[in-house]
Amino acid sequence: MQAAAEAPTDTAAARAVEVTKIYRQGGGAVTALDDVSVGFGAGTFTAIMGPSGSGKSTLLHLLGGLDRPTRGQIHLQGHDLSGAGQRALTVLRRDRIGVVFQAYNLLPTLTAAENIRLPMALAGRTPDPAWLEHLVASLGLTSWLGRRPAKLSSGQQQRVAIARALVTRPALLLADEPTGALDSATGADLLALLQATCRDTGQTIVMVTHDPRAASYAQRIVFLADGRVTGELTDPTPTPSWTASDRWNAERPREGSAMNHPPAPRDAHRAKHRPGRAVLILAILAGCAATLVALLALISTTESPVDGPSAPVLAVAMVAAPVVVAVVLIARVLGREPGRDDDLLP
Ligand SMILES: Nc1ncnc2c1ncn2[C@@H]1O[C@H](COP(=O)(O)OP(=O)(O)OP(=O)(O)O)[C@@H](O)[C@H]1O
Ligand SMILES: [Mg+2]
Repeated sequence: MQAAAEAPTDTAAARAVEVTKIYRQGGGAVTALDDVSVGFGAGTFTAIMGPSGSGKSTLLHLLGGLDRPTRGQIHLQGHDLSGAGQRALTVLRRDRIGVVFQAYNLLPTLTAAENIRLPMALAGRTPDPAWLEHLVASLGLTSWLGRRPAKLSSGQQQRVAIARALVTRPALLLADEPTGALDSATGADLLALLQATCRDTGQTIVMVTHDPRAASYAQRIVFLADGRVTGELTDPTPTPSWTASDRWNAERPREGSAMNHPPAPRDAHRAKHRPGRAVLILAILAGCAATLVALLALISTTESPVDGPSAPVLAVAMVAAPVVVAVVLIARVLGREPGRDDDLLP
């Protein structure tokens, strides 16, 4: 039997005891959970992490009484669900448990407001207006209440599903990837809301997530792999350096961004030395101009010959000098590879 990840006290709001879940399909079978024992203390906020297919959603569904284990027991507030009838399970889920499904599971024919009120309507109760207003405002849903799910974005649908799960103020909230469709700011707001309800109302929260930043809001992280508990981490508060580097990554402009940035050191150096290059180019142009003047002088000399070097020699000398200067200067400019600038860096 594997090591159990037990809640620190016996006041667990939810507990899986040696739970195995095997799905049978056609001729095959998939072991989604393999002898898992894990407890969740009342009033605690726990994150469950693990690779895709590791059994996270399966565990959440079993804890919520939405499915039954193949072997083992699920205890909710001390009650073993194994012996509970369907009606008792339904009442328990309605009154004590809020579930945020990975796929939201909103009713398509109801508006956002009707979806949020649904659990209360099914129980024949009306929601506390102040709490409902607080939830709707905190989740940024005020403008979307009259819309049906098909007319809402994924993030808005997810927030409606969260409001629906929280509206009854359940003792146990089971949330499957509740920030999966949210942008980072909205996700942070939601996690702060969950932290506050856990702290202020003693609600127990079990949240599945792939996101380490989301998990860091919890007091404890339980890790699953291949249907087994492989470890846990308590008080996973992010370190200041992690937060700082995360902020840096978030704020860093994407490649190709049109934003203005201070140039990198080497670019700054090149910008600084650009006037020097202009001087070199001017020197080349001057050399070419001198060559032209020399050629014109040669032509006029051949029309009235003088003593001294023959005309061809004079021509070669007068043309060669500036050309050599020009070639040297051009070679110097073109030959300066990026890596060759290092000696000029401050
Ligand atoms: N209803 C089902 N019928 C058959 N197999 C299932 C069923 N539900 C889950 N499984 C299988 O059980 C295993 C665990 O699935 P589960 O949905 O719990 O994983 P998960 O950790 O939530 O993954 P993800 O991160 O992708 O949501 C997987 O191999 C999955 O294919
Ligand atoms: Mg899942």
